[in-house]
Amino acid sequence: MADDIIAVKPAIAAKARIDAARREAMVAAEAKDAEAFWRGEMTRIAWMKEPTKIKSVDFHGDISIRWFEDGILNASVSCLDRHLATRGDQVAIIWEGDDPNSDAKVTYRELHARVCKLANAMRRLGVKKGDRVCIYLPMIVEAAVAMLACARVGAIHSIVFGGFSPDSLASRIQDSECTLLITADEGRRGGRKVPLKANADEALLTCPSVRHVIVAKNTGGAVEMMKGRDHWWDTITAGEGETCEPEKMNAEDPLFILYTSGSTGKPKGVLHTTGGYLVWASFTHENVFDYRDGEVYWCTADVGWVTGHTYIVYGPLANGATTLMFEGVPSWPDNGRFWQVCAKHKVNIFYTAPTAIRALMRDGEGPVKKHDRSSLRILGSVGEPINPEAWLWYYRVVGEERCPIVDTWWQTETGGILISPLPGAVALKPGSATLPLPGVKPALVDNEGNILEGATEGNLVMLDAWPGMMRTIYGDHARFGQTYFSTFKGMYFTGDGARRDEDGYYWITGRVDDVINVAGHRMGTAEVESALVAHPAVAEAAVVGMPHELKGQGIYCYVTLKTGVEPTEVLRKELVAWVRKEIGPIATPDAIQWAPGLPKTRSGKIMRRILRKIAANETEGLGDTSTLADPGVVQELIDNKVG
Ligand code: PRX
Repeated sequence: MADDIIAVKPAIAAKARIDAARREAMVAAEAKDAEAFWRGEMTRIAWMKEPTKIKSVDFHGDISIRWFEDGILNASVSCLDRHLATRGDQVAIIWEGDDPNSDAKVTYRELHARVCKLANAMRRLGVKKGDRVCIYLPMIVEAAVAMLACARVGAIHSIVFGGFSPDSLASRIQDSECTLLITADEGRRGGRKVPLKANADEALLTCPSVRHVIVAKNTGGAVEMMKGRDHWWDTITAGEGETCEPEKMNAEDPLFILYTSGSTGKPKGVLHTTGGYLVWASFTHENVFDYRDGEVYWCTADVGWVTGHTYIVYGPLANGATTLMFEGVPSWPDNGRFWQVCAKHKVNIFYTAPTAIRALMRDGEGPVKKHDRSSLRILGSVGEPINPEAWLWYYRVVGEERCPIVDTWWQTETGGILISPLPGAVALKPGSATLPLPGVKPALVDNEGNILEGATEGNLVMLDAWPGMMRTIYGDHARFGQTYFSTFKGMYFTGDGARRDEDGYYWITGRVDDVINVAGHRMGTAEVESALVAHPAVAEAAVVGMPHELKGQGIYCYVTLKTGVEPTEVLRKELVAWVRKEIGPIATPDAIQWAPGLPKTRSGKIMRRILRKIAANETEGLGDTSTLADPGVVQELIDNKVG
């Protein structure tokens, strides 16, 4: 079943922006003369001064990646101003609240005015080009307004997902020394309130760089406002004008920082710049989703993740699309919510994560079929491998075998989609992200970095740059080179493993490093470990991913307690709550196993390979354990496996 091929339907190919022949022509044109190809594509966004230099990339030495480097632009102009003459009264954002009775529509003209007012207020507070602004907002229109207002004045936004704890918020603010924080009184999710301002107040106790806080009134819940520091959004923007001179930005000036987990240490600030990112966001949004003027497009992600940046805000708005922003969750008030919203707003393109599909699949076809989905034309998937069973359910039940599924593989670092079907051009295989987009040069390498040919399996790397890739880690360019370009010299290493079949199709197998993917959210095992060892009862901890039916991967923790501490059920619960509080609910451990000892090499390195296998119940082929300092601990761990 998994190797089924679903050919492109002739009717879809005939109408699509890109059919198979066009795709081939694009791939060939890019391969022949990349500069000419991207010189053609760069005109999809608005430039104040068009670039003459297209590409300057070096994956060796200090690693330098520059695109369109002498171009001048402002991202907010591409997303707003240039649409005013042609589509000022078209809806830019449809907002659907957590409460099914609340929604709103914002036209391009209104969005432009709201962005300008906030941008003017930010300038008045002293925010200048290059300053960092942290955004900690729920899924309300203000989130998009805040992003674009930052772009307007040349400030670099750093969005922190509203589900992160005060500690996680604080460390991200500190790392990039943000001077302004934009938040809301509270968020709403699934009928519950999230105390954003209270969390922010706690975080700001350790963030001296923040001089001002702008607070959007969302739920109207009571919050404390610190005089001189905190300002209500409505009050501070009330007297501002509805136009605002956009800052002139170089194509390589930073647009945003987004923190993401790696295999070691603290989350890193992935830095994206203006020109290349926006070209890539526009190019991929238009072509992967085959977006057509007037369509309603819905990406269910949160703006706190990269998917929300590129495919709720920048890509769709650069393309003049109508983008839907959803505050709620798929399961509330009931598990037909996604399809009810599709019917209500006549959604044409729907983009979500496999974890949501798997959860909804459990409830059967009833909740889906209750709602009219005849407007749907394209379905998308992102964030983790989609198992063929979930893929087929999505295809058959949700899309009625009418809508192609684009399984889009990419990362925070890549800025936008790299491997994905183009719906009018590429035959589908359930579970495969299929083929690279034009301009993307993947390869599979063995552990020594040798490029493998043909049908094979290996580490997924990129041999050359595309315009939307990250440029550096904020404040730590050496770590950028070390993290992405040192494992395999001269190649960008994704951290993922993949298989390539006889047709050249890619099947992503998951991370090959110590990053786990929990319900489509990336989590560094090192982060969970350091949260655990910060607890006074814990001596040592090792965290690995374990297979999880709904979430893809769950968080499995081996914990060694300090001498004299009793391993009790109460303590287990306390540790789970502790990690949630330290990092946020997305890091909630799924299993904690007491481990009197951990399998270590004689040099003291924890053998995670063994721990992963035990957590996955794959204790048959544990491989060579003879190099362990104390081979006895392995049996002890197997015997006391949790769950
Ligand atoms: O392991 C891959 C997985 O998600 C990782 C990137 O996570 P993040 O930076 O949070 O970005 C998620 C949204 C783009 C990748 O290294 N991943 C993402 N999309 C897919 C995927 N794995 C398989 N198939 C996908 N379509």
